Amino acid sequence: MSDLTILALSGSLRKESLNTRLLKSAAEVAPDLTFDEFLDLAAIPPFNEDTEHPAPPAVADLRRRIRAADGVLIATPEYNGSLPGVLKNALDWLSRPIDDGPVLDRKPVAVIGASQGPLGSIRAQLSLRQVLHKMNANTVGQPEFVLPHAQQALAAGELPIGSPAVEILTAVVEGLVTLIEVSRVVASPGR
Ligand code: FNR
Repeated sequence: MSDLTILALSGSLRKESLNTRLLKSAAEVAPDLTFDEFLDLAAIPPFNEDTEHPAPPAVADLRRRIRAADGVLIATPEYNGSLPGVLKNALDWLSRPIDDGPVLDRKPVAVIGASQGPLGSIRAQLSLRQVLHKMNANTVGQPEFVLPHAQQALAAGELPIGSPAVEILTAVVEGLVTLIEVSRVVASPGR
């Protein structure tokens, strides 16, 4: 699995984002994978059908990096019981059929999230999964990774080695790798 590249997408713009820290923990648990981090959704303009063509440079860059990656790992904060607007906005751009089609169509994707509340972003993840389902992404179903009270859990910067959360995070990343391998076999059955 060492030849795989994962695009890590954080749904938070915050410099000290817990979700961005979570992505760094995911990279730690999977040292064999190459992580390409896309942490600046602020560069993606508000979606507007009038300005779709040509695609704004940040959108073109994100599309290119998703195409180049074998899979995508999204860490979402929870805002008012749902996914943040900046993440939904980016997904709306990505859903549009430009050139060779919508880039998340059949793409292996895993969803994780951290929140400062007691539910650990589960409602945001469910909203995000609904959007990804509509976009026909190939998402990891189980396990689900939630990190409640994340400011405490990530107080040291990354998740403590050997913690139950690390075990579940590792299983999610392994699930993503399995999805990637299955999609490769489906795309090239003779390989
Ligand atoms: C929040 N937060 C929050 N937390 C939660 O568990 N459920 C929620 O519905 C909300 N709603 C919410 C709305 C808005 C507008 C903000 C700014 C925050 C708190 C949230 O979990 C916390 O700010 C996290 O730290 C955000 O993630 P990042 O930026 O640290 O990755």
